[in-house]
Amino acid sequence: MPKIKCGVLGATGAVGQRFIQLLANHPWFEVVVVAASDNSVGKTYGEAARWYVSPDMPPAVRNLLVEPVEPGLDCELIFSALPTEAAGPTELAFAAAGYVVSTNASSHRMAPDVPLLIPEVNADHLPLIAIQWKKRGWERGFIVANPNCSTIHMTLALKPLHDAFGLRKVVVTTMQAVSGAGYPGVPSLDIIDNVIPYIGGEEPKMETEPLKILGRVADGAMQLADFRISATCNRVGVRDGHLEAVIVELERKPSLEEFTEALATFQGEPQVLRLPSAPAWPIIVRKEANRPQPMLDRDVQAGMASVVGRLRPDTVLDYKFTVLGHNTLRGAAGGAILNAELLVAKGYLTLQDTLFRQTTRTAVAVPKAIFERMLNQARQGAPVEVGGVLATASGQPMQLLKARNSADDPEHAYQMATEDQRRILAEIDEKGLDIFAVYHSHPSAPAYPVARDLTGAYYSNAYYLVLSLADPGRPVLRAFRIDQTRGDVVEYPVDIK
Ligand SMILES: NC(=O)c1ccc[n+]([C@@H]2O[C@H](COP(=O)([O-])OP(=O)(O)OC[C@H]3O[C@@H](n4cnc5c(N)ncnc54)[C@H](OP(=O)(O)O)[C@@H]3O)[C@@H](O)[C@H]2O)c1
Repeated sequence: MPKIKCGVLGATGAVGQRFIQLLANHPWFEVVVVAASDNSVGKTYGEAARWYVSPDMPPAVRNLLVEPVEPGLDCELIFSALPTEAAGPTELAFAAAGYVVSTNASSHRMAPDVPLLIPEVNADHLPLIAIQWKKRGWERGFIVANPNCSTIHMTLALKPLHDAFGLRKVVVTTMQAVSGAGYPGVPSLDIIDNVIPYIGGEEPKMETEPLKILGRVADGAMQLADFRISATCNRVGVRDGHLEAVIVELERKPSLEEFTEALATFQGEPQVLRLPSAPAWPIIVRKEANRPQPMLDRDVQAGMASVVGRLRPDTVLDYKFTVLGHNTLRGAAGGAILNAELLVAKGYLTLQDTLFRQTTRTAVAVPKAIFERMLNQARQGAPVEVGGVLATASGQPMQLLKARNSADDPEHAYQMATEDQRRILAEIDEKGLDIFAVYHSHPSAPAYPVARDLTGAYYSNAYYLVLSLADPGRPVLRAFRIDQTRGDVVEYPVDIK
């Protein structure tokens, strides 16, 4: 399968280098563009980046010329690791120009129409993208943001607690690594033998971002979660890995066993969807009295998990614990890559966007009455995906044959039930018809086949129709030909008449 072409903005910095490292052998994404400040533009990446992560710089990027951070880059997915000031206007310009932007910067995190994503926690916030398109008049591009690096790890741990027991108050004190300040970051003479009890802008982020992430999207708007957070943030002389001491007050006080069980058994959509960068267990609970520690635990599950320990009752609020997470892996580049993988799995970003754009082909004619029946079926079935087959023969009216959905996760996938498939094939055979198209609905995702739709597409001579209700007032039907053996997906215009 061809890979989605990516550009990394801020590719030479601390987070940018992690993007380059993590994307080196990614199954879906390929870095074809690197961009950075005027200091680096025109140099090769090998010359511009002072490589500081292990292993060595991937050979495929060494000779890429560093480009300016402006739309016009030859890629469709942008990973942004720009400083906040540069990120704000630049990311808007890329999204407006049709690029999908997955950012680490804080500029757009709290915008009400931008999903602030931790895929295990709030994959259900993706419908905000449709609001972004509508509100900003964008057709294809959009922005999703990664939370602050300390917020991500604390919120991963808060999610199962909030779901099971309800959060009332959270008090957190962080001990944050120097790589959190970028490269070269905090001067060594300021941080060796020292703790700096202030990190500019960090505490407000930790006190507000979790409320958005743990909030919900209702009636097309973001509703923030209703509890209070107090944060104190410190910079410590650790290279990578933020340690956070968290105390919580809960609506319902569980036993320590229940509290521990809620954390240890937590999984989310990335684990169900088996996304390439997803850790098997997003929260690892350590029972030892002296864990987690940055040096020992930050790289667990490739730096994509949050490690929780020291679970115990608190004398002022209800319970307290320590959480540790890698700040430039799950806390930055790894998190933004997992966000993009979720976008692929949910159909917001297609594996063959470049091919999809070649739409100069003859239109696929769908009779209006058939379209109306598909639409009724999709609306009645939502939030479950529904589908079936359109069959025809020359001179005969098109027939719509519905088939039940037997997917394990029918709200996010459509798999034609085997017995319905057999019945439909027998009927088609008996009436001398041909399969014209296989259709299914996307109740909240756009009208593009997701990764699982591609692997289930067995009829290379039929069209694959995807009907999206992402914007309920403006359903969209798109048509594709999918050739699994060649790995081709080609979009065709649709003519409803
Ligand atoms: N470090 C972390 O742990 C972490 C975690 C989560 C989120 N973040 C966020 O991720 C972003 C990047 O952080 P970082 O730590 O990687 O910073 P960094 O090491 O300072 O890297 C900044 C990058 O942006 C480029 N750049 C700087 N100013 C620019 C401009 N005006 N126009 C275009 N490019 C410019 C730099 O290019 P040159 O090399 O050419 O100067 C470099 O590639 C920030 O928004 C930060 O808040 C960081």
